[in-house]
Amino acid sequence: MSIEKKHLIIIGMMGTGKTTVGQKLAEELPFPWKDTDREIEKRSGMTVAQFFERFGEEEFRSRESDELKRLLEGDRSIITTGGGIVLKKENRERIKQGGWVIHLTADPDVIVQRAKQAADTRPLLLGNLREKVMRIAKEREGMYDFADWSIDTSLLHPGQVVDEILRFCERKGFKARS
Ligand code: S3P
Repeated sequence: MSIEKKHLIIIGMMGTGKTTVGQKLAEELPFPWKDTDREIEKRSGMTVAQFFERFGEEEFRSRESDELKRLLEGDRSIITTGGGIVLKKENRERIKQGGWVIHLTADPDVIVQRAKQAADTRPLLLGNLREKVMRIAKEREGMYDFADWSIDTSLLHPGQVVDEILRFCERKGFKARS
């Protein structure tokens, strides 16, 4: 039997493909794609990197929690989240209550390779990339474990990840509701 849940929410470390997958899912499902980082960027008129530089991580985390809350209260959507959203317990609880949760993972080496391509957009990865990825992964160990489904994206193309998520949605009866 399927349970009615409101949103489809994607969590996971940086470089696990959340944004690409969220965008592609919106082409397949009748819901819009929303992203906490993008919402912060739209509202503040600056990039995440600029926001970090100007206001610091604490202010970013507070803004991130506000945006998450707002998106969860809004219409049914595919919500992708910044990797650090799970640092706050209240966010983890809200996400869990807000819908079906998919956790994207990847090997640290894969994350490093992917992050290299856009290192300048990720303020927490400036400096020694591998060391930082390993440290962040360690700090967040277990924090993503509340998800309903976990997908290792290391060897998958975004399209394959999307297919797997669509199969999950079908199993759970996640569809448009009136
Ligand atoms: C962060 C991840 C980033 C962004 C910010 C902080 C993190 O989002 O929110 O740079 O703490 O893991 P992505 O996971 O989409 O890269």
